[in-house]
Amino acid sequence: MSYRYPVPAAKVPPRNSRVLLNFENKSLALFNVADQFYAIDDSCPHQGASLCGGRLEGRVIQCCAHGLRFDLASGYLLNSTALKVGSYPVECEGEQVFIVIGAEESGQ
Ligand code: FES
Repeated sequence: MSYRYPVPAAKVPPRNSRVLLNFENKSLALFNVADQFYAIDDSCPHQGASLCGGRLEGRVIQCCAHGLRFDLASGYLLNSTALKVGSYPVECEGEQVFIVIGAEESGQ
């Protein structure tokens, strides 16, 4: 069963920026890359470092801790399926942005 988390308007990241969201017991990083939104767990699947502050190139986020890089769209380690960060579909209805929690592709 999935739940759509409505992101408060003040928290929606402007183009080419990111925010950290705390929702229930989760920390999620929400990215806006060229007006496309991506939501992932703010926890690197390697050793749990925060990914929100990592270096972003296109839609690839690099973990600050040991440099692993993940595709924001799939959650997978770049060029590999060995590691995956939880990723969540993002839906927009007008100005309202929703993160869909608990869907199949979240990898939970
Ligand atoms: S904790 Fe992210 S690369 Fe090691």
